[in-house]
Amino acid sequence: MKIAFGKLGFPKKGAIVLGVMDDRKLSPMGEEADKASGGLLTSSMKASRFTGKAHQTLSVFTPTGRVLLYGLGDGQGIDTLWCEKAGGTIAAGLAGSGETEVAVAIESRGDDSASPELKAAHVGYGALLRSYRFDKYRTTLKAEDKPTLVKMTVMVDGHTKARRLFAELEAVAEGVFLARDLVSEPPNVLYPESYAKILQGLKADGLKVQVLGEKEMEKLGMGALLGVGQGSTRESKLVVMQWEGGKKGDQPIAFVGKGVCFDTGGISLKPAGGMEDMKWDMGGSAVVSGLMKALAGRKAKVNAVGIVGLVENMPDGNAQRPGDVVTSMSGQTIEIINTDAEGRLVLADALWYTLKKFKPKFMIDLATLTGAMMVALGQVNCGYFANDDELSTNMSDAAKAVGEGVWRMPLGEEYNKMMNSDIADMKNAGPRFGGSITAACFLERFVEKCPWSHMDIAGMAWSSKDAPTVPKGGTGWGVRTLDQLVRANYEG
Ligand code: BES
Ligand code: MN
Ligand code: ZN
Repeated sequence: MKIAFGKLGFPKKGAIVLGVMDDRKLSPMGEEADKASGGLLTSSMKASRFTGKAHQTLSVFTPTGRVLLYGLGDGQGIDTLWCEKAGGTIAAGLAGSGETEVAVAIESRGDDSASPELKAAHVGYGALLRSYRFDKYRTTLKAEDKPTLVKMTVMVDGHTKARRLFAELEAVAEGVFLARDLVSEPPNVLYPESYAKILQGLKADGLKVQVLGEKEMEKLGMGALLGVGQGSTRESKLVVMQWEGGKKGDQPIAFVGKGVCFDTGGISLKPAGGMEDMKWDMGGSAVVSGLMKALAGRKAKVNAVGIVGLVENMPDGNAQRPGDVVTSMSGQTIEIINTDAEGRLVLADALWYTLKKFKPKFMIDLATLTGAMMVALGQVNCGYFANDDELSTNMSDAAKAVGEGVWRMPLGEEYNKMMNSDIADMKNAGPRFGGSITAACFLERFVEKCPWSHMDIAGMAWSSKDAPTVPKGGTGWGVRTLDQLVRANYEG
């Protein structure tokens, strides 16, 4: 959807959105439209349950077109997140309404929470985020089932400033969309090699992109990552993306993603029911890719690296077995107890490579790592772990600022020792209880003293229901939090 900004006024065509406060109190433009329509707005509100409660909506058809009344409540606390929710709600409400264009009037003078221009920019941002669709593989969609809304104009005093503020947000949305596209692609289309090709395309955005194949990874000694891909006919890849927007020679910050393009479980095969979901087991890598695109898109003043380990976990005559012992790039050996605990093996080598090659300020890894995380926190909060309190605080502040939920989980020796093996340095799967925590402890063995956080996004990467700014399907969850983390703490 196209998002534009313009002066306040009644549009010549399309729908208009006007704010209404509690007790059906119309805005100045609302009063005007009410008069012009012979009191249609007032009578429609009276005939319905619409009172102006926050985010309530009512469509009124006047002789000059649709007026969508939007509840502002008591007008307090209308901050950027509130505006994004409103933009998304409007976009979704009118998407298939028959309207092709909508103009949203931001008549408020602004309060402590946000200036009118900032509110306008975030209304546009919310609408854009919600309007995302993945229709690539639909060939028989009927005209009447396709969305009609193609353009939103947000009207506000100071629309030039709003447009400028929006440009940065749009760059982040492009990153979110890349992440959503990647997790939505089917696994016969998106596999390590084709995925790496897509990421090569990010050179056009200004990123440096380098792809390592199996030969190079063998030379580096990445036995943990390679063991996972061993049963697949698809070649494993490691993709390194670099954004150099900071000072030359400044230590980079690093993001590492699990990119299991399909997770069958391997020889420890998963049950058939729901296995198709495991196409989005590359969700962590998708967020890293989307974040790198966003940083490049808004020319962030930071040096950042994004590293994704791309593999396919398949059962096969050549597949890794439970009982195998592999040697990771770090030299530490790992006894494979369960071939379905593959993500940590990929990350072990990707983290170590990142640590040694880039000596980053910090490392954050993202992974759809454990079903246990969904049991613990549902699909509401992402559980994250951190060996550094400052990084942890920055993380939770950033998530809060963009309206994505995170919850810190514990690490500790009691958990860590559950990953000790009888015959190797560690094993890849511990007891069932505390499964997300022991997985994090496993990863911690590959980060030495580097400030590090692990985000287990198993419950967040995919959603089966619509949310105000996130349509169901691939969510791109995390791109916005990490962009905000960078923006608020590591630029300039
Ligand atoms: N990719 C899965 C985790 C997962 C499951 C993510 C469902 C999203 C939805 C991961 O590779 C896995 O299979 N983990 C195992 C670990 C266990 C074998 C120690 C799990 O969670 O059961
Ligand atoms: Mn698995
Ligand atoms: Zn997996």
